[in-house]
Amino acid sequence: MSSISQVNADVLQQAQQRIQQDLLTALAAFAIPEPLKAAVHHAVMLGGKRVRPALCYAAASLRPNHHFAAARRAAVAVELIHCYSLAHDDLPCMDNDLLRRGQPTCHVAFGEDTALLAGDILQSMAFEILGSRLFDEQGQGTEAAIVLKQMQILATASSKMVCGQVLDLQAEGKQVDQAELENIHRNKTGALIQAAIMMGAVTIFAGTDQAIPRLRQFGQAIGLAFQVQDDILDITASTEILGKTAGKDEQVQKSTYPALMGLAQAQAYAQNLHDQAFEALAYFGEDAKELVEISRFLLARKS
Ligand code: IPE
Ligand code: IPE
Ligand code: MG
Ligand code: MG
Ligand code: MG
Repeated sequence: MSSISQVNADVLQQAQQRIQQDLLTALAAFAIPEPLKAAVHHAVMLGGKRVRPALCYAAASLRPNHHFAAARRAAVAVELIHCYSLAHDDLPCMDNDLLRRGQPTCHVAFGEDTALLAGDILQSMAFEILGSRLFDEQGQGTEAAIVLKQMQILATASSKMVCGQVLDLQAEGKQVDQAELENIHRNKTGALIQAAIMMGAVTIFAGTDQAIPRLRQFGQAIGLAFQVQDDILDITASTEILGKTAGKDEQVQKSTYPALMGLAQAQAYAQNLHDQAFEALAYFGEDAKELVEISRFLLARKS
């Protein structure tokens, strides 16, 4: 199962500890009635690799950062959007899954109505956190321009995620070509991963900085690679290790990279995308060591 203790990379482990604490702090700021509160806690706090927050922190650490509180809020916000997407992705009307992060899925534990509402509230909570002063030190605020950019980045990526999800469902049992599949994967998964990186980046880089297009390039490559890997792991990993039902994609005839090009080719493609990601990071030299470490973990991940 994809429990936190199984991830070894130091950078990731530190990020996991920080986000776990920050998510708890963030959730505590909301008064939510039961059983919704318990469902939100279930969807957010139980496991998960926390890859998006880790990428957000690492991007925000490329330079000395006076606005790291804004990166911490962004990391919380992007993980909340991700958790909402998983609660909805698992619903019977979507992928109809019973197991997530080694636990019963949100609707299995709390019923469809509550799981649906948990996803709904997580989405608005994400934006509320982003616009709040959470984690700001006393007397120190964040420039409004940074917060506005983060909100735009997250809103755009969340919309893309939903568009990708509808295309993913429509593509079940159909033959799609590589361009169509790439479009699905970039939208349903890549966009949010790229957003995590860019929300960290805008806390230190102005829009005109050459770092911005490099990070966008990095995010595009690593974001697509992530879903290609997810498709591969659905075939190569066990339910126990994955913490979600293995072999599910083939069972419901999902359009995936291994289904399109075969397992070996899909693995080669994932490697190729990672090479592109590392190339984009070369611009930052040693400063990008955290992003490099996280990328290495992603390439080698087993769940
Ligand atoms: C799973 O994401 C869903 C996809 C977008 C592929 P993760 O593999 O990041 O799931 P957790 O957060 O670690 O459970
Ligand atoms: C998930 O893709 C994408 C989103 C949740 C947006 P999958 O449906 O492949 O993710 P898993 O395999 O259920 O985690
Ligand atoms: Mg899905
Ligand atoms: Mg799914
Ligand atoms: Mg999958």
